[in-house]
Amino acid sequence: MLLFNMWLLFIQVCIIFRFCDAQNLVTDVTGQVFTTPSSRSGFVAAYVDINNDKLTDICVVSESRKELKLVYGGTETRLVQFKSLVITDDNLSILGVIPGDYNGDGHVDILITLKDSNSNSNLVQIKIFWGDSENKFTSQNDIDGQVIDEPLLLDANADMVSDLFVTIANGTRQFWLGHAGAITGNWSFEHTSFSKASSKPVKFPHSNAFVDLTGDGGADLFVTTLDTNGRIVFEVWQGTELGPHLFSNYSLPNEYDNFEIGQSAFADINGDGQQEHILPVCKVDNKRCIRSNILVYFDKEWTEIFSDNNQ
Ligand SMILES: *[C@@H]1O[C@H](CO)[C@@H](O)[C@H](O)[C@H]1NC(C)=O
Ligand SMILES: *[C@@H]1O[C@H](CO)[C@@H](O)[C@H](O)[C@H]1NC(C)=O
Ligand SMILES: *[C@@H]1O[C@H](CO)[C@@H](O)[C@H](O)[C@H]1NC(C)=O
Ligand SMILES: *[C@@H]1O[C@H](CO)[C@@H](O)[C@H](O)[C@H]1NC(C)=O
Repeated sequence: MLLFNMWLLFIQVCIIFRFCDAQNLVTDVTGQVFTTPSSRSGFVAAYVDINNDKLTDICVVSESRKELKLVYGGTETRLVQFKSLVITDDNLSILGVIPGDYNGDGHVDILITLKDSNSNSNLVQIKIFWGDSENKFTSQNDIDGQVIDEPLLLDANADMVSDLFVTIANGTRQFWLGHAGAITGNWSFEHTSFSKASSKPVKFPHSNAFVDLTGDGGADLFVTTLDTNGRIVFEVWQGTELGPHLFSNYSLPNEYDNFEIGQSAFADINGDGQQEHILPVCKVDNKRCIRSNILVYFDKEWTEIFSDNNQ
């Protein structure tokens, strides 16, 4: 029963710019919101409406990567409120933040990916701060098991509860399904195996995505993988009642064999109502990019839409 659900995506991309007025005049409120220089350092890891007030809230990871600041959007007179989630384990630092509703209670939970600062491995640990009606995030769970790289947020079984697409430590792909359950106990994801139709390793860092590429109105799972020769292979998986179905897989022409392959992006660049796969590539010589191109995959063909020849 695996049907991908696109609904989650709409929640994530619903961004409202509060501080732009009708004339598109933008007011710089940085100093009023982030009052000290130290509060201004760090990086924005996610945008989400945590407290369901239709104002965009921001998840900011501190420069030390030990603290996640939730900055709740407000009005001009009552600008913002902060809530701080702190990582107390000395060895762990925050890698990323994936807001979602993992226990289906209607409150946004904050999933944090963590990395062991003493280790060079690609393994990531997961912690969830559970959302509640007062946005206090007092309960948290350390999730059992490590995954390689950042998980991908999706709804794998179309139950409107957030799930993850992950690669576990032995390189196998899995869905980790969110579900209702007591969060004060040992809540963990339900692990389900992925299709056996492809067992290619997932590229690191991945540019997996949850986007409609088959044009049927439902989101598909796009996975960046490597074949036995280390060449990149893109896979498009369609959600069906029987599980993920490999809809298509494609590679790059041989002329790009010695190119660095960038992160995939998706946009409807020819206005036909369907998303195209956009891919930056770069020919590297002596650690220098000597030729870069932007490629678009359309109608089973790659086309260069931008070329910069520095040779
Ligand atoms: C942190 O790492 C050090 C060195 O690897 C280890 O001795 C210590 O037990 C770790 N601390 C925790 C809380 O895991
Ligand atoms: C990887 O681990 C999973 C879960 O323990 C197991 O089901 C699977 O068979 C393992 N795969 C390989 C290739 O070892
Ligand atoms: C959680 O798991 C630990 C270790 O398996 C166990 O000792 C503890 O009783 C469990 N807690 C709950 C609330 O189930
Ligand atoms: C696509 O998948 C099929 C079936 O698994 C496989 O035979 C084929 O080699 C794959 N194509 C590429 C480009 O990897």
